[in-house]
Amino acid sequence: MKASPTLTVQNQHVTIRSFTQEDISEEMLTQILEAARRSPTSSNLQAYSVIVVKNPDVKRELAALAGNQKHVGTCPVFLAFCADLHRLKTVCELHDKEMTNNLETFIISTIDASLVGMSVQTGAESMGLGAVMIGAMRNHPREVAELLGLPKHVYVSFGMCLGWPEKDNIPPQKPRLPAELVIHEEKYDVSNPQSRIEAHNQELAQHYVSLGKNQDDAAWSGVIARNLSRPLRPNLKVTLEDMGFNII
Ligand SMILES: Cc1cc2nc3c(=O)[nH]c(=O)nc-3n(C[C@H](O)[C@H](O)[C@H](O)COP(=O)(O)O)c2cc1C
Repeated sequence: MKASPTLTVQNQHVTIRSFTQEDISEEMLTQILEAARRSPTSSNLQAYSVIVVKNPDVKRELAALAGNQKHVGTCPVFLAFCADLHRLKTVCELHDKEMTNNLETFIISTIDASLVGMSVQTGAESMGLGAVMIGAMRNHPREVAELLGLPKHVYVSFGMCLGWPEKDNIPPQKPRLPAELVIHEEKYDVSNPQSRIEAHNQELAQHYVSLGKNQDDAAWSGVIARNLSRPLRPNLKVTLEDMGFNII
């Protein structure tokens, strides 16, 4: 069966981190954002906001806060995808109600922001643009919030650099885990996935070698084991609670 244009775009996805200096037209950006605003949203809450950043000074500061990720400073447009309970609190107040704010509203708002972000990425790629999502916005959530003027009950879940890909700098697609490991028929398959993981390590190692990067044999599982054997962003929960999210 022939793939639809959307599936073709999804199948061609690759993260882009090198951009030309060409701007993205207002018209194109608006089209992409308008399409993304059609994303599904939990209980129609629309618990997200997107901050469009073009100011070079702000992008430079965001790049520093993201661990000096160069592309954050050099992309023509940076988008901050925020989980947003601020507007909903106002809405509740309009009706003399107090907003519930717990783990579920934290997850709802984070998922809403993520869905819009993914729609932006696919929409942008369908127009020939390149993008990289920036989870490192959660390295210093409070500083990012201050820089972007976020009110209480809003945090940047992740950002996104958008721009025109540098033609000579488009990497090959990164291999994915085999489908059998991530797609389960009817019930979760708990059988030992070790041999498939080892095969994926080999495939990913070859990918890195093709890019001139040295890799040990455990290109996927070794890196992940190292990264996950210590708590990730251990202060995040306390900081987000201080920013107005009751993660209880
Ligand atoms: C939520 C999220 C956050 C990410 N954060 C970063 C980031 O801070 N910096 C970066 O260079 N890439 C980031 N990425 C991109 C991933 O590294 C990339 O998607 C992954 O390595 C797979 O590569 P591919 O997208 O080219 O297939 C992020 C991706 C996601 C989904």
